[in-house]
Amino acid sequence: MENHLLFYILLALIPALETSDFFITPFRNIKKRSADDLIVNGIEIYSMKIDSKVTSRFAHNVITSRAVNRANVSKEVVFDVDLPKTAFITNFSMTIDGVTYPGTIKEKEVAKKQYEKAVSRGQTAGLVRASGRKTEKFTVSVNIAAASKVTFELTYEELLKRNFGKYEMLIKVKPKQLINHFEIQANIFEPQGISELEAQGSFITNDLSQVIKKSFSGKKGHVSFKPTIDQQRTCANCSTSLLDGDFTIKYDVKRDSPGDLQIVNGYFVHFFAPTNLPNFPKNVVFVIDISGSMSGIGIQQTREALLKILEDIREDDYFNFILFGSDVHIWKDTLVKATAENLKEAKDFVRAIDTRGMTNLHGGLMKGIEMLTTAFETNSVPKRSASIIILLTDGQPNEGVSDPQAIQANVKKAIQGRYPLYNLAFGYGIDYNFLEKMALENKGVARRIYPDSDSAIQMEGFYEEVANPMLTEVELNYPENAISDLTQNNFKHYYDGSEIVVAGRITDNDLNSLTADVKAQGAENDVTFSEQADVEETAKALQEQEYIFGDYIERLWAYLTIQQLLEKRTVAQGEEKENLTAEALELSLKYKFVTPLTSMVVTKPEDNEDKAAIADKPVEGTAKAAPGTQSYPTHSYLYSSPSIPSLYTSVDGDPHFIISVPQKEDAICFNINEETGAVLNLINDPVTGIRVNGQLIGDKRVSSDAKIQNTYFGKLGIENKQLELKLEVTPEKITLQKGRKKTVFTWLDTVTLRQEGLTVIINRKKNLVLSMGDGASFVIVLHQVWKKHPLHQDFLGLYTLDSHKLSERTHGLLGQFFHHIDFNILEIHPGSDPKKPDATIVIKNNKLTVTRGWQKDYRKDPKHGIDIPCWFVHNNGAGLIDGVHTDYIVSNIFDTTVN
Ligand SMILES: *[C@@H]1O[C@H](CO)[C@@H](O)[C@H](O)[C@H]1NC(C)=O
Ligand SMILES: *[C@@H]1O[C@H](CO)[C@@H](O)[C@H](O)[C@H]1NC(C)=O
Ligand SMILES: *[C@@H]1O[C@H](CO)[C@@H](O)[C@H](O)[C@H]1NC(C)=O
Ligand SMILES: *[C@@H]1O[C@H](CO)[C@@H](O)[C@H](O)[C@H]1NC(C)=O
Repeated sequence: MENHLLFYILLALIPALETSDFFITPFRNIKKRSADDLIVNGIEIYSMKIDSKVTSRFAHNVITSRAVNRANVSKEVVFDVDLPKTAFITNFSMTIDGVTYPGTIKEKEVAKKQYEKAVSRGQTAGLVRASGRKTEKFTVSVNIAAASKVTFELTYEELLKRNFGKYEMLIKVKPKQLINHFEIQANIFEPQGISELEAQGSFITNDLSQVIKKSFSGKKGHVSFKPTIDQQRTCANCSTSLLDGDFTIKYDVKRDSPGDLQIVNGYFVHFFAPTNLPNFPKNVVFVIDISGSMSGIGIQQTREALLKILEDIREDDYFNFILFGSDVHIWKDTLVKATAENLKEAKDFVRAIDTRGMTNLHGGLMKGIEMLTTAFETNSVPKRSASIIILLTDGQPNEGVSDPQAIQANVKKAIQGRYPLYNLAFGYGIDYNFLEKMALENKGVARRIYPDSDSAIQMEGFYEEVANPMLTEVELNYPENAISDLTQNNFKHYYDGSEIVVAGRITDNDLNSLTADVKAQGAENDVTFSEQADVEETAKALQEQEYIFGDYIERLWAYLTIQQLLEKRTVAQGEEKENLTAEALELSLKYKFVTPLTSMVVTKPEDNEDKAAIADKPVEGTAKAAPGTQSYPTHSYLYSSPSIPSLYTSVDGDPHFIISVPQKEDAICFNINEETGAVLNLINDPVTGIRVNGQLIGDKRVSSDAKIQNTYFGKLGIENKQLELKLEVTPEKITLQKGRKKTVFTWLDTVTLRQEGLTVIINRKKNLVLSMGDGASFVIVLHQVWKKHPLHQDFLGLYTLDSHKLSERTHGLLGQFFHHIDFNILEIHPGSDPKKPDATIVIKNNKLTVTRGWQKDYRKDPKHGIDIPCWFVHNNGAGLIDGVHTDYIVSNIFDTTVN
């Protein structure tokens, strides 16, 4: 590799904040320590600084990371950052040996072309996106020459939301190595005055809590965190860093009046958050999916959440439960008051909820709406009350009306804007876009619930957010002749602990003051509020602040406007959608926000258009990557942590095969039952010479009562003829043979090996990532069981991350599915297991009976796995795989004689 830059950017959503480093340690005299401590794989990250400036809830964050290559050969430096999902990147640049490569914002399509051109000229480039719970990941790596330095600088902005009475700022911290100079600095300026400020780190130990400094007084708040190298260590003489987790800053402002109006440089913003108003009694209809796919963790966590929620329901609230599987079940015929007796009965009802049947979402939801409507018509709930519908579902509607568009239309017509609809999407087997559209159309929001041990807490947390409606039909008005470009100014509900934000442009240049009038319905009577701002006074109040960025209200306005245009766009169609897209794009370009419509391109100044790296925003949608991005080459999923699993073709466990069918956003699965010792051909491509075989092992001893013995992969062999490569992996060791050179590693090693056309990364005790050029990469996951387990032993799983380089002629138990595969479900009907429906499927011109089931994907979570819903083909995949499964048995792990 030459000693100048060759850079590629990976845009991933992987929670971990790594940085770069920089030159030599200035602290030599403080304490003697080995410099080796700070150098990992030749790279020293000498400085990492996170600098946040918050002005009136609008946060501007700059992450600067500096690294130096201390090795005597060129090395790759990786920079990856987790950003809050609600943030927009606004700038990114790299400085290599004093030369800055700035980022420019482009329309996504334009950026993509530029990027592809760079790739076609032989630049290494890659892009990965994925999404964590609250964050998305941005990754860049650059190859730098021996003794060279690189600085990464990333800027992002976001409007901090008020939740449960506090604004929250989340900074993910994960430098992965000790850093000489590590620092977080946050300066907050709030014209209303700061009333409380806290800062916490999920990784902070007692010793380290002293290192967090925070203070506030009047309008200013300050937080800093600057641990020394020794304070970063996981133990006194360890060289690993304990900085790994969430650093959270929370604060609130003083509220002398219900709102605050600010005007700066021709823009205004209005924050409205009245407190101390009586809460509305509410009418809550819970519409709960109990279809078969909810069984297990889904229904368990739902029960737990509902029981907790019942504890919190107030006595003057009305509520009811509607359950839908194939049929719709109601708890009570009408909404009932939350009396002690009813709550007790409700708890018994909730404890007995169990799963059954298909997903008649339409039936359940329509019943819930009808129930609320009837309650008002018959005056059986208080006239002044706030109604909400909370829908929880984990799947695609497939019973009753199942066409998403028809459901949307019917629901909208039935609700008529009267009740906000909140859609909670459990898990990944979901059309999230559909649920989001439907919620937005009905003045609510959609939220993902991540399947995990804390799913109940996530659901309950959402309920808490909407548990205390203080105002309904909130309308914020400003003098029409003085302003324009107003963001959303009417809101169905205002909940205690939240905040309404409206911004706009001032059109009257001579304006001295602005008045906001707010009208709303309160729990007891209609209420109005009025707020006034004086232009000169705001200007004076802000002047004292040297660190605020002058145009923050304009940027806040642009941020809000773009967010709202993008939301409207998800619901719009045809010309309206085009217009919204054009508007959002124009603003994104003008204000340099990386939104779903734009990308940031980093180019090398002297030969523009040539070397490009791209940053863009992942889209929370269905389980697959954002539309239109599939053609980017992908690299390195290895840092991924809990995030939405993309569907991958894989084999794991007792060998179960999962075949993803991206265009259906669904999967087919099957098991192979074969004897211990058998070697199965998984992938065989005669064109590229890539071949993968796997050998089965059994349990430690044969269990006498099981009909079928468990088997697992105990050995995998990957061969690449062109590269003269043989890789043999067992749970004990990894043997790499390249030509005549043989190298043996163990799973205790952490290794990155890069050679022409080949990258092998061993992540200690976890997994091995193998990439053979662009377009052929695999992950082997190590499953370690308890050493003294009476039955089970360690085994392996194989996941295909990318197979597009493999030829059409690729075959094997997995390989035959790498190229186009599709299916059609003809008829879904009850099966022998009441929780798992059967269906008739047409696939490869065969009609087969399949059963809805789940298989585990262990790529991200090797311990528990993530459930992937799929259609299970019985009898060793008969009818799905070409031939019969015994055709795929070969004689040994590097056998080349198959197919
Ligand atoms: C790089 O450093 C290693 C170890 O110090 C040494 O063995 C090797 O000869 C050096 N290579 C060059 C090109 O200087
Ligand atoms: C982006 O960052 C670079 C490097 O700090 C800086 O030179 C440039 O002015 C920034 N661009 C914008 C638009 O702020
Ligand atoms: C860590 O330090 C202690 C006390 O100085 C020493 O006994 C121990 O061997 C050290 N451990 C390592 C792994 O260096
Ligand atoms: C879209 O924009 C064009 C041009 O501004 C306008 O004429 C048209 O009415 C708009 N259409 C919709 C549906 O908003």
